[in-house]
Amino acid sequence: AKRPRLSKDDFLSCLASDIPARLLYAKGSPSYGSVLTSTIRNLRYLSSKTVNPVYIVTPTDVEHIQAAVVCGRRYGVRIRVRSGGHDYEGLSYRSESPEPFAIVDLSKMRNVRVDGKARTAWVESGAQLGELYYGIAKASPTLAFPAGVCPTIGVGGHFSGGGFGMLLRKFGVAADNVIDAKLIDANGKVQDRKSMGEDHFWAIRGGGGESFGIVVAWKVNLLPVPPTVTVFQLPKTLNEGAIDLLTKWQELAPALPDDLMIRVMAQGQKAVFEALYLGTCTSLLPLMSSRFPELGMNRSHCNEMSWVQSIAYIHLGKNATVKDILNRTSSIRAFGKYKSDYVAQPIAKSVWETIYSNWFSKPGAGVMIMDPYGATISAPNESTTPFPHRKGVLYNIQYITFWFGDGAPSVAPIKWIRDFYAFMEPYVTKNPRQAYVNYRDLDLGVNEVVAGGNVSSYKSGKAWGERYFKGNFERLARTKGKVDPTDYFRNEQSIPPLIA
Ligand code: FDA
Repeated sequence: AKRPRLSKDDFLSCLASDIPARLLYAKGSPSYGSVLTSTIRNLRYLSSKTVNPVYIVTPTDVEHIQAAVVCGRRYGVRIRVRSGGHDYEGLSYRSESPEPFAIVDLSKMRNVRVDGKARTAWVESGAQLGELYYGIAKASPTLAFPAGVCPTIGVGGHFSGGGFGMLLRKFGVAADNVIDAKLIDANGKVQDRKSMGEDHFWAIRGGGGESFGIVVAWKVNLLPVPPTVTVFQLPKTLNEGAIDLLTKWQELAPALPDDLMIRVMAQGQKAVFEALYLGTCTSLLPLMSSRFPELGMNRSHCNEMSWVQSIAYIHLGKNATVKDILNRTSSIRAFGKYKSDYVAQPIAKSVWETIYSNWFSKPGAGVMIMDPYGATISAPNESTTPFPHRKGVLYNIQYITFWFGDGAPSVAPIKWIRDFYAFMEPYVTKNPRQAYVNYRDLDLGVNEVVAGGNVSSYKSGKAWGERYFKGNFERLARTKGKVDPTDYFRNEQSIPPLIA
């Protein structure tokens, strides 16, 4: 008798012929739920309305990933790849539309191999940033890597979208310092830098996750830091002149020497100035008193430590130990909505006054985190990597609103962030209004699949894509057209294939 066509079950038997059963989870099986939720950070996507995967694969080996891609293509099951699960819109583990898909979850592939002599490391995508930082510091206390502030972020998604933290002014984004990679392409083949070619290698260093294949591991350059760095955190209230300081900070911070990064968190009635200086307190003090005397920073504000300790200190607080950055569950889980902007002209003091008096006191109000650019992050041409936010950018704004508790009201925070974003339009970059792909925001637009075509349309991608990538969007789409013309690796904001 003819076998009924049950493509999903065929997919599972196809997987099972190459992947041990203990690494496969079908919806409804006992551990499915705990594996699915293990790295979900945004509680919005733990809801019963979320479209979840039909299968989860947790490979321990490159061949398992290859098998997942080959089986997925053969039986028409799409794959979403998840490394750290930090995607703000949950695109690594949920779909907006009700389609059957599988997750390849790389959390079991997190090896970090540091070569202290050569000043390089191979890091697997499933490692979290804390594991990379820890591994580097163990090999040498004077080597570092420039990437995100939060230690639980996954290497895979983070490097794919650029990736920046407190070393951005000294060493640029994470993707700028990637020198080789190992990936599984849309045909299930293993590629490295040489075999994939320079366009493909260019695209994976900032073009956003998912689109160009599953990156298994990255080779990175490690960079020199002094044995002692200095951290300070200075909260200033409105009465203490927060608005004047913030107004001045906008042009001052991007022009400081590259050893000094001062970012700002603005919220409620205050602004917190948080800094990492690559040197001792004694050499920082004269710099602060000549460049930013108004901040009133003095020796009592200095906290000297090693670079790796500064990771724990800045994200987890002054009592955190270096080992704490290895904790995979330490990050707060909350319901959240996030957006981003880039600023190229300083915002007037009067606008900051309105932001504080009006927006920060509204119901659902959140926080603005502002990272100054300038120096190394701003040095490359816009097309050197897909990450285009270079010359002329003063700083990045991340808008965050979050809320806690099951069934907690989400209307006010989401309304606040969307209305505030609309208010900010005149003061930020235009044509396009730039945004950072790692601060994923589906409000910017989602892909449409044109009837009959079965690929995401270039036009629908352009709407959000030029905000993340500016003029690099077209080259990304042409590269996608070459390496994945049938658009197998896709999600709501993957790069659509442009075929010449
Ligand atoms: P996740 O696994 O969710 O993947 C994100 C996207 O990349 C998905 O589309 C996924 O399919 C794809 N992907 C994942 N692994 C892949 C792989 N191996 N190959 C190909 N595609 C892959 N950013 C920043 O620059 N600086 C910062 O300081 C912070 N801080 C921060 C704090 C917190 C608490 C959160 C939740 C997020 C940030 N971010 C950030 C944003 C972060 O960089 C962004 O969410 C990254 O994409 C997360 O990477 P993950 O691997 O964790 O995400």
